[in-house]
Amino acid sequence: MLYSPHSRVEIQSARVARQIRKKKNTSIFQKCYRLINNQFGGEMAQTKMSKNSIKFRCFWKTTTIYEVLKARQWVETESELDWDFFWSDVGWMYEFFDHIHLADHQRFNHFRNYYELTRKDFLIKNLKRMKKTLEKEDKLEEAANYNFFPQTYALPAEYGLFVEEFKRIPGVWIMKPVGKARGRGIFLFTRLSQISEWKKDHRWKSENPQLYVVNQVENYIVQKYIESPYLIGGKKFDLRIYVLVLSYAPLKAYLYRSGFARFTNAHFSMKKEDIANKLVHLTNFSIQKHAPTYNSKTGTKWSLHSLKMHMITKHGEAKVNELFHDIRSAILRSLLSVQNVIIQDKHCFELYGYDILVDKALKPWLLEVNASPSLAADTPQDRELKYGMLDDVLTLVDMERRLPTQTSLQVGGFDLLVDQGATESSPKTVPSLFSYLGCYNDRDKQLKQMAKAQLASG
Ligand SMILES: Nc1ncnc2c1ncn2[C@@H]1O[C@H](COP(=O)(O)OP(=O)(O)O)[C@@H](O)[C@H]1O
Ligand SMILES: [Mg+2]
Repeated sequence: MLYSPHSRVEIQSARVARQIRKKKNTSIFQKCYRLINNQFGGEMAQTKMSKNSIKFRCFWKTTTIYEVLKARQWVETESELDWDFFWSDVGWMYEFFDHIHLADHQRFNHFRNYYELTRKDFLIKNLKRMKKTLEKEDKLEEAANYNFFPQTYALPAEYGLFVEEFKRIPGVWIMKPVGKARGRGIFLFTRLSQISEWKKDHRWKSENPQLYVVNQVENYIVQKYIESPYLIGGKKFDLRIYVLVLSYAPLKAYLYRSGFARFTNAHFSMKKEDIANKLVHLTNFSIQKHAPTYNSKTGTKWSLHSLKMHMITKHGEAKVNELFHDIRSAILRSLLSVQNVIIQDKHCFELYGYDILVDKALKPWLLEVNASPSLAADTPQDRELKYGMLDDVLTLVDMERRLPTQTSLQVGGFDLLVDQGATESSPKTVPSLFSYLGCYNDRDKQLKQMAKAQLASG
């Protein structure tokens, strides 16, 4: 019996898939590619596979990214500059980025002025500016879509404006330092006097000793508190969603379909006596893990998929799909609002962690974007999610140059969010009525199919 080359690939790849199932924790795409390739005589190895010559450097040695990089079998280096791929903190960039010349192929995991998206006050400034620009251009319908961030003012600069607004819309507001993370320095208030007391207090001055010496104030944002969050079992949660930007000009970004909801341990309450209780109001894991009721085995997280399924049973598919579609649109608009501000650099890519709060009316609110989302694995499920997601990041950054030249709509668990550089034949942004966010993550299957298709096409 004669086999067509195609069926030969299929038969071989079934065998490959079995071998892969036995060895976990390395890149599926890489393994499929390697194993199929070996069975075809290894011609591809000479042309494209050069994993053993890729030098990686990793700043974080105890998190999932280090494990994923090791599993790629690239060569680790501690060299300051002699690397091909560097996963770093943003500090390194301030010290070196402007003083070095990177070769074409080198890749680094932050953009030079990433903070335009990830510093709380800059994000709001850029979103407000985008809205205004659209209004000036008479694109009123699109401008009205920039309604996914709570009303926010930068302090101390916009204190006067805030006071006027506070008088118009009293209730609960939230103060957040722009330069901190993990819920640190955040507090809720209901009376202006609470701010003036705080202003006089040492906290108005920076905790950063350098700023303290020059008597500078620390910047904060003051934001309308979302008083009716969507609750499950009486508890508040927010969503962590991962977005990979490969380029800002043209904008090219992918959205990871898995993510999680981070719950509080305490029941939600807007009672006066609970306003200062962080365990009730702040969903940050770093705060919730200290709750007396915290269970380290079960954690405080739900997968985005479980959350979506739960919500569908309550509200039906159409409403929940609309919510996830709105989340996707808010993320896309946030990127569009900074794309002309962030310095494009072909060496850079960035993985962002979006914090989204959903309210009772199933409306999503963008709270902030993190440039260095936590890659620590708190539970086995957390590890599985982060490991797979980071492995797909590396596949998309494509140091080994194995991805097809035409933009892929899906790579592992990442779905294309936008590709402004796409050719005529492929859409510039994916039709946006549906979002794969929270859908079943078929990354293993998808990576195998991709490796197979790639090898079949030669
Ligand atoms: N405007 C808001 N309305 C309701 N809850 C909020 C609001 N802003 C922040 N929170 C809560 O506080 C947490 C921390 O806020 P966030 O802006 O993410 O700052 P951080 O950098 O400290 O994580 C959020 O995860 C959310 O639970
Ligand atoms: Mg946060």
